[in-house]
Amino acid sequence: MSIDEVVREHWATRAGFILAAVGSAVGLGNIWRFPFQVGQEGGSAFLLMYLFFILLIGLPAMLVEFAVGRHTERNPVGALGAIGGRAWRYVGGLFILIGFVILSYYSVVAGWVLRYFVGSFTGAYAADPEAYFVGIATGFDALAFHAIFMAATVAIVALGVRRGIELAVKLMVPSIVLVMLGLAVYAATLPEVGDAYAYYLSPDFGVLIDDWRSIVPAAAGQAFFTLSLGMGVMITYASYLAEDRNLAEDGTVIIGFDTGIAILTGLIVFPILFAAGIGAADPGPGAVFVALAGAFAEIRFGMLFGILFFGMFSIAALSSAISLIEVVVSYVIDERGLDRPTATAIVGGGMFVLGAPVALLSADGAPIMVDLYDILAAEILLVTGGILLMGLIAWGNPGLAIGELEKGIGDLGTSATVWIWLVRIPVVVVLLVSLALAVVGYAEFLTGPFAEFVSG
Ligand code: PHE
Repeated sequence: MSIDEVVREHWATRAGFILAAVGSAVGLGNIWRFPFQVGQEGGSAFLLMYLFFILLIGLPAMLVEFAVGRHTERNPVGALGAIGGRAWRYVGGLFILIGFVILSYYSVVAGWVLRYFVGSFTGAYAADPEAYFVGIATGFDALAFHAIFMAATVAIVALGVRRGIELAVKLMVPSIVLVMLGLAVYAATLPEVGDAYAYYLSPDFGVLIDDWRSIVPAAAGQAFFTLSLGMGVMITYASYLAEDRNLAEDGTVIIGFDTGIAILTGLIVFPILFAAGIGAADPGPGAVFVALAGAFAEIRFGMLFGILFFGMFSIAALSSAISLIEVVVSYVIDERGLDRPTATAIVGGGMFVLGAPVALLSADGAPIMVDLYDILAAEILLVTGGILLMGLIAWGNPGLAIGELEKGIGDLGTSATVWIWLVRIPVVVVLLVSLALAVVGYAEFLTGPFAEFVSG
């Protein structure tokens, strides 16, 4: 028995595992990224495509990650190496790298959220929401709150799987759900709520046909990002499962929660924006902040709802950040032999440094690095990770995955075949098409808006 098997921690309860996975899934992806993608990619047309991908790709892909994690009881590098042989350790290494990149900028955006939470007690953003965002998005404040958020993440994860992550998510996830429900009920009472729902919920197929080249990769990237797929979070979390549970059931619950929260976010954000006369957010990562802060300054009880909204938003970001850092930390513990507190501190420090340019560089007050990191991470890196993993399992080792999934369920019969073929063809094809479109889109972004930004 290796040292790894002696000391590897396990979740204390089934709820602990499910809540940790929900906590990972629900985060900035739902509350920040989702509304600005909806605004940027044509409203409900995007929503429809996204929901389709969640079902078609999200669930099958999540089950693959679960099967790999529980089967190998390893971090992604060890897990892929154990299944695919030495060369696949490099793919696992890619997952670690993706986690590093994502949390580095994720923490900067989460720092903005935290800054807004603190600011909402004094209504600091009310006077001039635009100027407020410019003031905090890059520079000293941004760096300081990036550091605070990263330190909080490190502190929780350093305590371990049970005492840190599991305990934290058991408190965090129920509070997120409660506050979100309360906010949605409140939003339903706002004036103009009908227009907001209509914008958000009535699909316009014309937009879908005209703009599919950007909608498809954006929706696939968002599906992966929001479900924390494509970089081994679900492998790592499933590796801490001690017993053979019904993973299909767990996956369905987790996806149900994440999708419910994303839809709920739209039902909160769009009515608030319409009520304040702002309408759908202008495209861009800062828009949700500027527009919402402006709206909170306008509407009834805006200050109170600002505090609740940004408080809940900070917690949601934190419960995702702990999963991102845990992937890298589990790798450093398993494969490099460091103890958990040291591993966590070193990894957190490294991520802080990588995120620093995002917190510091701006052009005309606008943060210019977020898009650069974010599009690369969600639309290119996660999707690439997904394609490689789906290929390894569905084409290379389907028996292993089916056997593992059946452990908690019993004989799957033809459902198993359907699952594997779903992953083999539609999932892989959609991801390949998305990746190709995303690479073209990213090149256009680099030579277009980004080059303009940099040259001022
Ligand atoms: N799913 C998280 C969110 O929606 C982000 C995330 C992506 C977490 C990838 C882990 C891995 O905010």
